[in-house]
Amino acid sequence: MRRTALYPGSFDPFTYGHLDILERATELFDTTIVTIAVNNKKETVFNGDERADLIHQAIEDKPWRDQVEVAQFTGLLVNFAQKKEATTLIRGVRQVSDFEYEFRMALMNRRLAPDVETVFLMPDEQLTFVSASLVKEIAYWDGDLSSFVPPHVANALRQKF
Ligand code: PNS
Repeated sequence: MRRTALYPGSFDPFTYGHLDILERATELFDTTIVTIAVNNKKETVFNGDERADLIHQAIEDKPWRDQVEVAQFTGLLVNFAQKKEATTLIRGVRQVSDFEYEFRMALMNRRLAPDVETVFLMPDEQLTFVSASLVKEIAYWDGDLSSFVPPHVANALRQKF
């Protein structure tokens, strides 16, 4: 049986932390669908197509790129998972402070769709402090982004701010 996982998030923008989790997911699943939440309540710097494009560029030279799809969704995540016949939701947890929100969300999703399981993956410890929101703050103040995001994402951020 082929296993498909969704890796959902805002990805505004895609960071080295996201890339690390995605690579780990490809080692566990046949297909991983990076699932970008659009038209969410969150204000984003990049629209859905821009975020998808940045993700495609980030994985284009990776040997596992054929195992990855990039999709955009609105509405409930579990409905999208069932539509895509995905059995698993992947979430990255960086530190204990992430866990409270993630735990609530995972249990809520399980109540909504008992057949969809959430799996938490930890990034490389060098990346545990990387977050898209801090990256945007650094970009806003024109700081060095090179250890947090791929160069094309840093360029895209510079054009926005
Ligand atoms: O990267 P983020 O912003 O932490 O991702 C959060 C996301 C998009 C995974 C979450 O907000 C989500 O699943 N939104 C879709 C709406 C939904 O299904 N909400 C119920 C969650 S219990």
